Amino acid sequence: MEQLVTALRAIGEPTRLRVLSLLAHGELTVSEMVSVLGQSQPRVSRHIKLLASAGIIERLPEGTWVFYRLADHGRGQKIAQGIISLFEDTDRVMARDLDRLEAVKHDRKNAANAYFAEVANDWAHIRSLHLSEGSVEKALRKITGDRHFKSMLDIGTGTGRMLEVFGDKVDRATGIDLSHEMLNLARLNLTRAGLNHCSVRHSDLYNLPFEDHKFDFVCIHQVLHYLDEPKAALSEAVRVTAPGGLLTIVDFAPHQIEFLREKHAHRRLGFTDTEMENWLHQCGLEKISHQALRPTLEDKSDTHLTVKIWTGARPTNDTAKGANP
Ligand SMILES: C[S@@+](CC[C@H](N)C(=O)[O-])C[C@H]1O[C@@H](n2cnc3c(N)ncnc32)[C@H](O)[C@@H]1O
Repeated sequence: MEQLVTALRAIGEPTRLRVLSLLAHGELTVSEMVSVLGQSQPRVSRHIKLLASAGIIERLPEGTWVFYRLADHGRGQKIAQGIISLFEDTDRVMARDLDRLEAVKHDRKNAANAYFAEVANDWAHIRSLHLSEGSVEKALRKITGDRHFKSMLDIGTGTGRMLEVFGDKVDRATGIDLSHEMLNLARLNLTRAGLNHCSVRHSDLYNLPFEDHKFDFVCIHQVLHYLDEPKAALSEAVRVTAPGGLLTIVDFAPHQIEFLREKHAHRRLGFTDTEMENWLHQCGLEKISHQALRPTLEDKSDTHLTVKIWTGARPTNDTAKGANP
C-alpha cells in the first residue's frame, strides 16, 4: 500500500502527468522534454527524478546522454499504463505538448535524412569503417542456413546491401527506405547485380505499406540506432512477419563512442541483449537468439565496435492481426 501511495503521489502533479503523456510516445532525453514542456532543466529534472524513484519511468544512461522511458514491467508499468489510459484526447495542454513533440521529432528526422542524403554516395565506405561487413554477412547467411524464403523485407535498406546478400535465398525481396538518395543507389546496385526479383520503394518504417504477415524473412540491418522509437519499429516489423517467419536485427552492442552521435547521426549507442530480448518477446517473437561479432586485429574498422545479431521467430500458430504492442 505504501509503495502504491508513493507512486500515485509521484504521478499526481500536472507536469508529471505531461511527462507521462510524452513518454507514452517513445523514449526521450531531458533536454527534449525541456524543449517540449517549456520549463527549466532543473525543474523538469526534478519531476523526472520523482517519477523514476517511484518506478513509473526508467532511466537509461548512455554515454553523455540519458534517455527516459515508461517502465516496461512490474507495478510501475501497470500504474503508468492505467493512468495513461485515462488521458483525454481533448486535453488542450497535452495536445499542445504532443504537437511540440512532433515538431522536435520532425526536426531530428530531417537532420537524419539530410545526413543520409549527404553520405549516400559514400555509404559503402562509411559502413565499412564501423563494422567488418564480410564477417557479419557470413554470419547472417549462416543463421538462415539452407532455408529459402518466399518473400523478404529489408527495413531501412539504404543502398540495398542486404537484398544483394540474400538475393539467391529469396523468391522475391523488397527494401524500404525514407531516403530517395539511398533508394536511387539501391536501384542501381540491384540492376548491376542482375537481381530483378528484388525491388525497393519509398516508405517509413513506422508505417509499413504492407498487410500483416506478408514476409517470411524480415531484416533490419544497422538502422535501429538512428531511431527515436526502436521498439515501435520492431513492433511494426513483427506485424508484417508471417507465422513461422524470421526477424533478424543487426546493430551494435552498447558502446561509448560519442562522436557517432555528432558526426554520424546515431541516437542510441548500441543495445543490450536484455533490452532487445524484452522488446522482441513483448512483440510476440519466440526462439530469440543472439550472436556477438567482436572486432578482430585484421579489422579495418576505426571504431572497433561489437556487432550483434538478434534473431527471433514468429510462432507458427500466431495468426493474430498485428503484433503485440
Ligand atoms: C545506416 S543506414 C543502413 C542501411 C542498410 N541497412 C545497410 O546496412 O547498409 C540506415 C538507413 O535507415 C534509413 N531510415 C532511417 N529512418 C527511417 C525511417 N523512419 N523509415 C525508413 N527508413 C529509415 C536511412 O534512410 C538509412 O538509409
